Amino acid sequence: RRRTAILISGRGSNMAALLAAAADPAYPAEIALVLSNRADAAGLARAAEAGIPTAVVESRPFGRDRAAFEAAMEAELARHGVELIALAGFMRVLTEGFTARWEGRMLNIHPSLLPAFPGLDTHARALAAGVKLHGCTVHLVTPGVDEGPILAQAAVPILPGDDEARLAARVLAEEHRLYPAALAWVASGRVALEGRLVRLEAPPPPSGERL
Ligand code: GAR
Repeated sequence: RRRTAILISGRGSNMAALLAAAADPAYPAEIALVLSNRADAAGLARAAEAGIPTAVVESRPFGRDRAAFEAAMEAELARHGVELIALAGFMRVLTEGFTARWEGRMLNIHPSLLPAFPGLDTHARALAAGVKLHGCTVHLVTPGVDEGPILAQAAVPILPGDDEARLAARVLAEEHRLYPAALAWVASGRVALEGRLVRLEAPPPPSGERL
């Protein structure tokens, strides 16, 4: 099982979905650490309740020195033997150095159908644009924000009478299904990259059928 850190900044509902999936010993990732850049992230208590090691590396004291903040995070990641990173509502932009070091080994979930609506306030922007389909994307992280190779997407309709909260809840339910599946693909080595295109290879046969 690949040792995985989940990085959060807040509520941690995607983190909880990943923890639930990884509670199954057959799941290919094991959650070795939940790391938050905010001490007040609600997700930390949830992770601790589930018996998962947690760490806080406050980003604020580092100000604009993102490299120093990341060096402090790297120390925690190394201490816990982390091999994969899942960003789950982690609201800090990472440097090119950090993303290059974790290239192919760091995933993010974003609440829109990328490449539409990168950045913040995705649900309000989708409503304002009048699109009829919206959703979420799990992608590999590259230096360009929300630009990495797309692993998986789920779409939801935008319905008459939707407001930001209703739409966000509809998307979030899909996020909780999509992220555990996409992390499992990466953790089990099924993802091959052709440029920015992701090819999904067949799962290994169940061990009983191996010759
Ligand atoms: C999720 O909707 C996630 O897609 C989004 O923040 C929310 C976190 O919720 N991520 C971003 O906007 C990344 N820029 P959660 O803490 O309950 O998982």
